[in-house]
Amino acid sequence: MKIIITGASRGIGKYLMEMFKKEGEEVYGTYLNTPPDEGGENMSKVNIGDYNEVKTWVDSIVKNDYKVVLLNCAGTNYNGFAHKADLAKWKSVIDINLTGTFYAIHAVLPLMRESGFGRIINFASIVAQKGIPGTSAYAASKSALWGMSKSIAIENAKKGITINSLNLGYFDIGMITEVPEEFLALIKKEIPTGQLGNPENIFKIVKFLIESDYTNGTTIDINAGLF
Ligand SMILES: NC(=O)c1ccc[n+]([C@@H]2O[C@H](COP(=O)([O-])OP(=O)(O)OC[C@H]3O[C@@H](n4cnc5c(N)ncnc54)[C@H](OP(=O)(O)O)[C@@H]3O)[C@@H](O)[C@H]2O)c1
Repeated sequence: MKIIITGASRGIGKYLMEMFKKEGEEVYGTYLNTPPDEGGENMSKVNIGDYNEVKTWVDSIVKNDYKVVLLNCAGTNYNGFAHKADLAKWKSVIDINLTGTFYAIHAVLPLMRESGFGRIINFASIVAQKGIPGTSAYAASKSALWGMSKSIAIENAKKGITINSLNLGYFDIGMITEVPEEFLALIKKEIPTGQLGNPENIFKIVKFLIESDYTNGTTIDINAGLF
């Protein structure tokens, strides 16, 4: 099995790459602006918003005789109230979080269909479920993953392929750790446990989705009961 991870230079993608490597899996990842650690193996520079780069990366790793798992971790954010949002920045969130995710899926699907196996896991967010001021671009990009995945799930269900999305709450890793302390305190107050999530929860559910051949086109909330 080969596990390929977009956005593996930081945060959740990097964590999952390390965890799967420890378990002896063959893992490949991408970076863009954050160079990999010294000796970082199997890391390629790929802009997920550029289809040719994504396709070249996928084709360099994936052959049609492999079982492949695609983890779409690459993501970005732009905060701004809708009425005064910078249009270019707004669109770039859609281009990376939605279209970039689709590019990776588009590049890998024909190979998965030929091999008769595939697991695709998208990283969505509670932000799209809750409605949080200033997050229209991010929320739009993440909720779009749900509908997109349902369609792709049905198209490929007879080919041994599943596609699902994780709606992550707030984890003690990645972009959340960059939130200013005063906002972080407000977020923690809302979480029923009062604490950010341990990313091991994400790892365990990713492993479950890899093992399951009957969980398809759906979403799993990992948020400690925060809604
Ligand atoms: N952390 C959380 O609690 C949380 C909560 C809800 C949802 N999520 C979602 O989970 C995923 C991972 O989040 P995270 O917190 O780990 O994020 P992060 O720490 O900000 O890391 C983002 C990753 O995406 C990559 N990336 C960004 N733009 C890219 C592009 N155009 N092309 C290729 N790679 C690009 C970055 O690469 P470079 O740095 O190399 O450019 C980096 O590896 C995201 O989709 C995020 O929306 C996270």
